[in-house]
Amino acid sequence: MLDTKTLKKDFSLFQNEEQKDLIYLDNSATSQTPDVVAEAETEYYRAYRANVNRGLYPLSQRASKAYDEARAKVAKFINADDREIIFTGGATDSSNLLMYSLENSGVFQEGDEIITTMMEHHSVLVPLQELAKRKKLRLRIIPMLAEKELDYNEAEKFITKKTKLVACIGVSNVTGTINNMKLLSDLARKVGAYSLIDATQAAGHIPVDVKEIGCDFLFFSGHKMCGPTGIGVLYGKKEILDKLTPGNFGGGMVEEVFEEEASYALTPAKFEAGTPNIAGAIGLGVACEYLEKIGVGNIENHIQEVTKYALEELSKVDGVKIYSQTNPEKNIGVISFLIEGAHPHDTSEILARFGVATRAGHHCAQPLVKSMGVYAVTRASMYFYNSKEDVDGLIAGIGEVKKVFE
Ligand SMILES: Cc1ncc(COP(=O)(O)O)c(C=O)c1O
Repeated sequence: MLDTKTLKKDFSLFQNEEQKDLIYLDNSATSQTPDVVAEAETEYYRAYRANVNRGLYPLSQRASKAYDEARAKVAKFINADDREIIFTGGATDSSNLLMYSLENSGVFQEGDEIITTMMEHHSVLVPLQELAKRKKLRLRIIPMLAEKELDYNEAEKFITKKTKLVACIGVSNVTGTINNMKLLSDLARKVGAYSLIDATQAAGHIPVDVKEIGCDFLFFSGHKMCGPTGIGVLYGKKEILDKLTPGNFGGGMVEEVFEEEASYALTPAKFEAGTPNIAGAIGLGVACEYLEKIGVGNIENHIQEVTKYALEELSKVDGVKIYSQTNPEKNIGVISFLIEGAHPHDTSEILARFGVATRAGHHCAQPLVKSMGVYAVTRASMYFYNSKEDVDGLIAGIGEVKKVFE
């Protein structure tokens, strides 16, 4: 287990007098930011703020160097090449950028099929629905089994020569299930389809190695893994990115512009139209280094140990029903639950009174939550700074919720 008391010292928020008793279990919504990340962002603003890749003066050169170094750090974090990393505004932005790029590149013809899963976050599902409408594609959804696993037998049947894209969530933000990203990427490759992994809940929680997964594209947000908000990553295999038409257009992504047309810069610049989130990218690079120092494998083991304890303890509480993956080896820190007789929003609100931060709702995965026969669940989500004592606090808080509804 990691030494969470020492780790928490890296976060000013946890040291604030006001927050010293906070049990923060809303990490799937956003993680906390270690001071090194906040300081790296602040240093950019205070010491070398300038636009990147444009100015010839030292300030701009320093900013450009820091931006390029951030790209290299993120590339290393997921075992990619620097030129395969596109900085975006976040996971949702990455998803939309990719869908438009594929569409603009003529990947889809009427009647083609695109495949996703029942576990998908709206950030993938809704852009896919819109893409299907625009291009008259058939959107097929791999179902989820009762044990909160994807039905891989069905996936094999769904992915055929008609498939052009297989988009799959790496870790569900509702069930915590770690999906078989490699298998789905392999199935896509066999039929000549592109594969996309939404690694938003996976990155910084379990080791993510794009070469090992073998996916064509993968994305995530910085803010779920100790990075700043408003920065994300779209990874793509270089040889594919080189062939694609961009999804956004404007300054910074062009080679030469004429009155009627333009030619585009090389990958990855051609996908980064406009001034990027420079401070965010620098902060994300530092977040990657910070997590690597702790060890993403150690983080994974720690979260799973705390998850196991939480699942065991919750199973002892009468009237609590778990809606997430109950096998702790397959769950990376997400516990969705309902308390008999209590609305999930009331549960979350009462827990907050006892210093426990959780989230209630459909968690931007309405089809998944509805498929479990409910409209909303309360979710407690763990990261590496959470301890078994935090779980004890959650259980005590649940006891208080039950008292209110007895
Ligand atoms: C699995 C998953 N994908 C995508 C997203 C979207 O991330 P963002 O809101 O940072 O764009 C989230 C956010 O909750 C998520 O959990």
